[in-house]
Amino acid sequence: MKIAVYPGSFDPVTYGHLDIIQRAADLFDRLYVAVLRNPNKKALFSVEERVEMLRLVTSHLENVECESFDGLVVRYAQGRQASVIVRGLRAVADFEAEFKMASMNRSLAPEVETIFMMTSAPYSFVSSSIIKEVASFGGSVGKWVPREVERRLIRRLRGGGEGEG
Ligand code: PNS
Repeated sequence: MKIAVYPGSFDPVTYGHLDIIQRAADLFDRLYVAVLRNPNKKALFSVEERVEMLRLVTSHLENVECESFDGLVVRYAQGRQASVIVRGLRAVADFEAEFKMASMNRSLAPEVETIFMMTSAPYSFVSSSIIKEVASFGGSVGKWVPREVERRLIRRLRGGGEGEG
C-alpha cells in the first residue's frame, strides 16, 4: 500500500490545495492531509477549524484523511507509514524554500521521498495569504476557495473569533 502525506498550514484550504489533494489521491492508496500545529505562527483559523474545513471539502475522496500533526514532518510521515511527502509548486518563487525543506527532510529521513506537483494553471498564483488579504479588504474570493470556506473567512474577518498557530 502506497501512503503519502500532504503537510501544510492550510489557513485556510484553497482550490489550489484541493487540486493537489485530488490529483495526489489518484496516485496513492491513502493520502493524509496534515495541518502543522505551529505555536510560532499566527493563524487566522485554529488548527481544529482548518482540519474541519479540509474534511468538509475532501469528504468525497474516500482515501483522504485530514488531521493535525506536531513536530517534524518526516517523523509524522514515518508514524503514518508514509513513504512520500507531497508538496505543491506554484511559481519559481516557491522553489528555493521547497528545495531547502526537501533537502533537509531527505537528510533527516532518506527513505521518505518528497514529490512536487505543479499547481494547475488557474491556481498558480493563489495562496492562503493572498486570499486572506483580498477577503480582508472586502474582495470576492469565491473563485479561489470553496463556498463554505469563503463564508467562514468573511465571518472571521468581520470579527468572529480568533485563530491560533
Ligand atoms: O503550508 P506551508 O506553511 O508552506 O507548510 C510548511 C510545512 C508545514 C510543510 C513545513 O513548515 C513543515 O513541514 N514543518 C514541520 C517542521 C519540519 O519538519 N521542519 C523540517 C523541514 S525543513
